[in-house]
Amino acid sequence: MKKLSARRRHPLAAVVVLLLALAATGGLYAAFAPAGTAKADETAQSLAIEEGKKLYSVGCASCHGTGGQGTSDGPSLVGVGSAAVDFQVGTGRMPAQQPGAQVPKKKVIYTQAEIDQLAAYVASLGAGAITPTEGQYNPAGADAAKGGELFRTNCAQCHNFTGEGGALTYGKYAPSLEGVSPKHLYEAMQTGPQNMPSFPDTTMPEQEKKDIIAYVQAVNGEKADNPGGLSLGGLGPVSEGLFAWVFGLGALIAVAIWVAAHTAKAKKS
Ligand code: HEC
Ligand code: HEC
Repeated sequence: MKKLSARRRHPLAAVVVLLLALAATGGLYAAFAPAGTAKADETAQSLAIEEGKKLYSVGCASCHGTGGQGTSDGPSLVGVGSAAVDFQVGTGRMPAQQPGAQVPKKKVIYTQAEIDQLAAYVASLGAGAITPTEGQYNPAGADAAKGGELFRTNCAQCHNFTGEGGALTYGKYAPSLEGVSPKHLYEAMQTGPQNMPSFPDTTMPEQEKKDIIAYVQAVNGEKADNPGGLSLGGLGPVSEGLFAWVFGLGALIAVAIWVAAHTAKAKKS
């Protein structure tokens, strides 16, 4: 007893107590926190599914059935996965309006949050392609030249060499890929909408998809987002080269004339 109280007065006692307390809270946090956040994730997920189910009953069930089993007006959605929903609703194809050879793109009527909820609900019906994360579809650093090769062997027969699209049989068509976001490009390859074959990661790894996205962006995307501001008609290297010729060379000639004129003046005087 005496020993303990003596130690308590030791100048380092406070530090020791503080360290012990910190270690204890750290340990407690490690023991409880992950379980806590996992629980929170789970509740958030089931909330999203519930909200998605409500949206689904209003906007989708008439064609795809109350449990997603499909009707004569729309295919079953069991096992299509969240990526298919994100693609179909995110590009405005769904909800479909009129029957026809192919459901066209329209104005998107759901917010991204609602699309996520719809996707969560459909994913809960059966495992399928999962919505890709930014790390999967962002083409930064991908090889556009390799992507061009892959595009020519896998996509060009329908979408044309630079992705401007083309007609298929029976009134169907492969749409232009201009202005399609990297995420939707990735999801189209994952899910293969309509007559398009799917390219799952097993046959076309993530990196190859990124290369293709980089290629499509290189040939098309320039028109959609010109980092330099002016698009020069977006006609590619020819028009841009012409611009450099006319204005660049023009400027050089102007400088040359100015210099010549001034040296001439200098000589005269
Ligand atoms: C008017 C009927 C109709 C409505 C409403 C509708 N769909 Fe569809 N949906 C279709 C048809 C038809 C197809 C097949 C499209 C095709 O082959 O071009 C389809 C296809 C899909 C696919 C692709 C399935 C696959 O195999 O890849 C998804 C995902 C989908 N719909 C989700 C939805 C969601 C979510 C809603 C509600 C927001 C919705 N649909 C509303 C008729 C409808
Ligand atoms: C057999 C022909 C065919 C091939 C091969 C094909 N596609 Fe498609 N693709 C289609 C059709 C048809 C659609 C339209 C689907 C729809 O509207 O439901 C489409 C749609 C798309 C879309 C959606 C565009 C939009 O406007 O939202 C993308 C992106 C796409 N394809 C990319 C690719 C890529 C990349 C490849 C190669 C890896 C490829 N496709 C190969 C036929 C094809």
